[in-house]
Amino acid sequence: MARRALITGITGQDGSYLAEHLLEQGYEVWGLARGQANPRVSRMRRLLADVQVVRGDLLDQGSLISAVERVQPDEVYNLGAISFVPMSWEQAELTAEVTGMGVLRMLEAIRVCSGVSRGGTGAAGQIRFYQASSSEMFGQVSETPQNERTAFHPRSPYGVAKAYGHFLTQNYRESYGMFAVSGILFNHESPRRGAEFVTRKVSLGAARIKLGLATELRLGNLEARRDWGFAGDYVKAMHLMLQAGNPEDYVIGTGRMKSVRELVEAAFNAVGLDWERYVVTDQTLHRPAEVDLLCAEPKKARTQLGWEPRVAFDELVAMMVESDLRLLTDGGDPHEDSSWP
Ligand code: NAP
Ligand code: GDD
Repeated sequence: MARRALITGITGQDGSYLAEHLLEQGYEVWGLARGQANPRVSRMRRLLADVQVVRGDLLDQGSLISAVERVQPDEVYNLGAISFVPMSWEQAELTAEVTGMGVLRMLEAIRVCSGVSRGGTGAAGQIRFYQASSSEMFGQVSETPQNERTAFHPRSPYGVAKAYGHFLTQNYRESYGMFAVSGILFNHESPRRGAEFVTRKVSLGAARIKLGLATELRLGNLEARRDWGFAGDYVKAMHLMLQAGNPEDYVIGTGRMKSVRELVEAAFNAVGLDWERYVVTDQTLHRPAEVDLLCAEPKKARTQLGWEPRVAFDELVAMMVESDLRLLTDGGDPHEDSSWP
């Protein structure tokens, strides 16, 4: 019998790469999709024809219980979230509900469906749970690089909501003996990244300027530094965490940092342009509280899971710029356009 996986956030960047990876591993893959006429669901069906869809919403406890009852998964990957950090200041309560309380609802759905009670293991342990935790929880970092023991100091409502989900996952593991783990993933990108995130905004911006479709690119803080990797590499770590002998949390990143300025330089170099002629900094794009730098120490994942990132920063940027040049030359996809500045 094929193992069965249920993925929330199936219409997002990571959902698509994880689904592809699990299908390649022989899994039966189900994606939780929300909304009455969500256009991203039909786009996902075109990309991932073999994924089966179950309806549900992280805001709706009953729908998650029904989804788990229907799918009877071996593994649940909770990737669904409001994931754009600036949105979390504008809609803090919604972010808390989806990104934070959504974790509680998913864990409860698993607990109820597998009949787990306090202190018990039993059938409970049969469904393995992955929570998409984030390096945003480190926020104003207390040490560099950051590892599994680094203290959290989140700087956005998003980071706070993720920290809640992280501790709750740990708590369900300790309270109920559930196989529940968190991957603390650093920024990971791809040609499927939402256009509101800085890497994709830059790759689309450089491609538009190269093709004469735009004359400038407006950005916020160019000095922020991130540890950027390739999403296709990172979803493999998610899967490995659920195959481990013991449920444990892992930091996943490359261990190398680059600034937004270096990102811009790399993207414009890839199209043969001088970025300083086109990039305009805009104070309105700065955040109320910034995370200045993030850099992973992924040693535990390397030694215990055998996980290594494969795609380097320059390769990643070139891949994204080339993909956007192709996309725009072919007439573009309106769904790729962001409504955020
Ligand atoms: P993404 O592209 O923004 O995808 C987010 C997903 O969440 C979408 O499929 C969205 O579905 C779904 N969602 C939103 N509200 C929902 C709700 N109420 N109920 C059910 N689903 C809902 O994010 P991503 O980059 O793939 O990231 C996946 C996860 O990893 C997220 O939890 C993110 O916070 C976390 N993470 C990401 C990174 C990164 O660098 N990418 C790093 C660390 C952690 P709709 O299409 O219906 O909106
Ligand atoms: N989005 C955006 N747009 N960011 C900009 C811009 C801009 O115009 N200009 C500068 N930046 C800076 C931000 O201030 C931030 O310091 C950095 O670029 C990265 O921003 P994002 O790409 O939006 O990602 P993020 O680091 O805030 O959050 C992403 O990574 C987290 C993991 O660390 C998201 O994927 C989160 O969901 C994820 O948890």
